[in-house]
Amino acid sequence: MTDNAPLAGKRVLLGVSGSIAAYKSADLCSRLSKLGAEVHVVMTSSAMHFVGEATMRALTRRSVMTDLFDEPHSDRIAHIDLAQSSDIVVVAPATANLIAKMAVGIADDILTTCLLAVPKSTPLLVAPAMNSLMLEHPATQHNLATLRDRGVEILATGYGVLACQDVGYGKMAEPDEIVTAINLMFSNRGDFCGKRVLVTAGPTREPLDPVRYIGNRSSGKMGYALAQAAVRRGASVILVSGPTALASPPGVELVRVQTAEQMLAECMKAAPDCNVIIGAAAVADYRPAKVADSKMKRQSGVSITIELVPNEDIIAALTSHRSPGQFIVGFAAETDNVEQNAARKLTSKGLDLVVSNDVSRPDAGFDVDTNAVTLHWPGGNSEDLPLQSKLATADHILTRIAAAMSHV
Ligand SMILES: Cc1cc2nc3c(=O)[nH]c(=O)nc-3n(C[C@H](O)[C@H](O)[C@H](O)COP(=O)(O)O)c2cc1C
Repeated sequence: MTDNAPLAGKRVLLGVSGSIAAYKSADLCSRLSKLGAEVHVVMTSSAMHFVGEATMRALTRRSVMTDLFDEPHSDRIAHIDLAQSSDIVVVAPATANLIAKMAVGIADDILTTCLLAVPKSTPLLVAPAMNSLMLEHPATQHNLATLRDRGVEILATGYGVLACQDVGYGKMAEPDEIVTAINLMFSNRGDFCGKRVLVTAGPTREPLDPVRYIGNRSSGKMGYALAQAAVRRGASVILVSGPTALASPPGVELVRVQTAEQMLAECMKAAPDCNVIIGAAAVADYRPAKVADSKMKRQSGVSITIELVPNEDIIAALTSHRSPGQFIVGFAAETDNVEQNAARKLTSKGLDLVVSNDVSRPDAGFDVDTNAVTLHWPGGNSEDLPLQSKLATADHILTRIAAAMSHV
């Protein structure tokens, strides 16, 4: 659960510079990955004298960035993308040289350029490691004070025999201390910190017989993106999902169901403890009245009629049992009259927000990674969000929910 694992699902940019302590960053990397963090390593060329790129790549299962001009994606600038998509930036070890560059804003390699592009709101943690004379030097002390004034968290160095055999301060904080510091920085951050969020996602399958079912084309990607974004913003998330091919987002409590009835039961169980409920699942409105015990046989030339009975409306059931202060969001996947249908859904179901999308568009809706949605608010206001990734759409929606909840 998220409360006990604030690192799960978080994107950590780990900067490694050229100190002998760089070997410890491999251990740090391994610990962070085991705690469910998505670790992206950026190394200076000096760092690569101390620890191999292959080690960091194997520990993170991701390519390691070592060259500013090595651009893996043609549609994005790698260092900007990385700096801006990280939940936290950790520099461990940080050399005297790197600290000096950070203090004055030099950007002459991949790591320093990334560091200059980190948004102000992203927490930045620096673990210095150096000889005690280098640490005590007025230039280094001045640079550390500059960073501290800017809100950078500087970890204290340890005392002992250093690699150069000098005795004094300058040993990098141990990896477990760095993990504790990161956890602490996260546990009090995020606009969904302390909130429990229920998300439904995916299709439902309504069985006809033991091998056939009535389903729909929902991939679950939008709901999973909402769950992932909510965890990253500090929420404790339960995701009730119909059958999908997607892996559980790290840090999310995933409950898998098949039918609309099962989804309803799980939602009603989870809902009373939730502050926010987001119904992004494509739930079957109807199910076959009878489910055959054995496989229905083909009868050549004979038409058959399947009687369908209505499923209970899950989102309407949730709003009618709403706990005090609960914020409930519905999704409206439409192919025509998107505006009118969304507005009707908002009032008839007593929702706080309806997110509509036109699933007839090829770049929005089912089974694609992008979406273009409209937010419909009580009172008639609406907002069109741009075509963007489902994760960015999810973040946009959560930002609006957080703002609306703070005005209640
Ligand atoms: C064996 C060895 C160990 C070093 N250890 C450190 C260190 O612990 N801290 C430090 O600030 N510099 C240390 N340096 C010096 C840095 O590697 C050097 O200043 C380099 O320019 C730093 O580059 P970077 O900050 O881009 O990684 C060491 C150099 C060598 C040869």
